[in-house]
Amino acid sequence: MKIRSSFFIDFNILDENLSKLKFLAPNNKIIFMIKANAYGHGMVRIVKFAVEQLGITEFGCATIDEAKILRRVLPKHIFDIYVFSDVQINTKSSSEFYLNSRTLPVISSLEDLEYILDDHDFRHMPLCLKFNTGMNRLGIELEQQDEVIKLLKHHDKKEIYHLFSHFSSASLSVKKKRPREQYDNFLELKQNLKSSSIEIKYSSMANSGAIEQQFSLDETHVRPGLMLYGPSALLNPNITTTPWSGKLIGRLETYILKTFEVKRGTPVGYGGTIAHDDGMVAVLALGYGDGISTEFQGKKLQYLNHAGTVLGRVNMDMLQLFFPRSQNCPLRAGDRFLMWGHDPEYFRNLCQQLKMIPYELLCQLTVRVPRMY
Ligand SMILES: Cc1ncc(COP(=O)(O)O)c(C=O)c1O
Repeated sequence: MKIRSSFFIDFNILDENLSKLKFLAPNNKIIFMIKANAYGHGMVRIVKFAVEQLGITEFGCATIDEAKILRRVLPKHIFDIYVFSDVQINTKSSSEFYLNSRTLPVISSLEDLEYILDDHDFRHMPLCLKFNTGMNRLGIELEQQDEVIKLLKHHDKKEIYHLFSHFSSASLSVKKKRPREQYDNFLELKQNLKSSSIEIKYSSMANSGAIEQQFSLDETHVRPGLMLYGPSALLNPNITTTPWSGKLIGRLETYILKTFEVKRGTPVGYGGTIAHDDGMVAVLALGYGDGISTEFQGKKLQYLNHAGTVLGRVNMDMLQLFFPRSQNCPLRAGDRFLMWGHDPEYFRNLCQQLKMIPYELLCQLTVRVPRMY
């Protein structure tokens, strides 16, 4: 079969990553974060495998539409879904969906809390609340906690099913002031709710960066996203101390469409970027239409231990990679080209060159690249 650009996903590696995660967080239940099409890996297939083979029963997505897709395509699979940001609670069709589909909206504002407590149907649904402990994005404000308690009491609600908050800086050291302060705020909030006779069944704060640093693991749950797909969430210089040894579950392959020789001074591709040396150009079958952005221009990509440089602007469907003649790189049209493999080190270097975070590079792969499992 002719090679084409594809994103190959290896479920065995996901299984291994999960075992490594359980080693770091042995006492926590897991909410597997599958936002943004499972960080670009294909949400439906990832969830199907995670439920059937890994025994995961709780997932976190961003939008109600992501949850709807999962329920439509996997109607017989038993798992819970939390919707974290675009909850859309106040439309009839959304509320019907939540009430009939083991899907829980995470309530992040006082207005939404009032709405669901007043709503006849929502009233009996398990209550999931997210507080802003210092990230200053979504979340009920800490100053509003007394109002929350008053509202819950007024509606005779005695339990919060899951209490959430989110770290702003877990990709840096958790020894720094901000994560510590956020977690202290969370613990104080829990204490305040409990002393007001509100039970908290489950709670969680830790995302990948916090789990890697084994921080805030006294809560019932952790919410890993990125690390289960392989990369560490830690940024420099903390990355060097992470115990995380996950591998990328996806490898991006393409192939060489054409090779040709260029002389120093030859203009190549859109904008006529000049080759600064004599050498060979390989045209690869990936471009920004696939999620390989123009930021790749000038960056290094490895091929069989040779370092090529992306020459000229990335096109919609292709990019040009230049190898100086002195390298004598054996390039042949039709050969497979690995953009990145399972090696986290290579991927990390690529992200660093691109000044992109791993989340971004993974999520921006477009639907044109088939996901193969
Ligand atoms: C609320 C929430 N929890 C957990 C995560 C997972 O974060 P990470 O991918 O860094 O593990 C995210 C990611 O966007 C999130 O928004």
